[in-house]
Amino acid sequence: MSERPKRVAVLISGGGSNMVRLVESMAGDHPARPCLVLSNVPGAGGLARAVERGVATAVVDHRAHPDRTAFEAALQEVLDGVAPDIVALAGFMRILTPPFVRRWQGRMLNIHPSLLPKYRGLDTHARAIAAGDAEAGCTVHEVTPELDDGPVLGRARVPVRADDTAETLAARVLAQEHRLYPAVLRRFAAGDRRLVDLPPPAGIA
Ligand code: GRF
Repeated sequence: MSERPKRVAVLISGGGSNMVRLVESMAGDHPARPCLVLSNVPGAGGLARAVERGVATAVVDHRAHPDRTAFEAALQEVLDGVAPDIVALAGFMRILTPPFVRRWQGRMLNIHPSLLPKYRGLDTHARAIAAGDAEAGCTVHEVTPELDDGPVLGRARVPVRADDTAETLAARVLAQEHRLYPAVLRRFAAGDRRLVDLPPPAGIA
């Protein structure tokens, strides 16, 4: 008997371009289906894009809570309500505390716009350019209590061009994020932990 599809909750904070690719990838013989798109920002653009695609949405506004613990308690309550098998952070811009992460460890993924372990944290593209790196990219990893530090499940690379700005590099990396995250999620949902390693797409120098 084929197993029931894995239930995936996607957490966003903004436009949700990665969420859209994940949601659209979970169709047909894919081993997972989206069960919720949750934003910590009311009115985030990704919420409307989720509704357009028939996915349930929720908002847990971090500013409506006195501290991280209260915010995460509200987050946990909403997630418990949909009982996801997998939580995918996709442009989710809140740092989660170790106790919260430990409850989801092994079932929570994140996409980070650098080739981890390089450039944990913010401003990854500007830092790669400032360092004179020849290559940049993005990484999907399991979320662990240490920020941007969990086991790597996939990476996608792009060349850094001499005339790149943080914005032009970010756009090139984002296009790779949109390819990488669905590929990793599909393997992860199928229990396949082999690394996904995407070279730069053909035709970009
Ligand atoms: C982008 O900067 C992306 O690199 C990172 O989160 C930000 C927003 O992504 N993963 P999205 O369009 O909301 O998915």
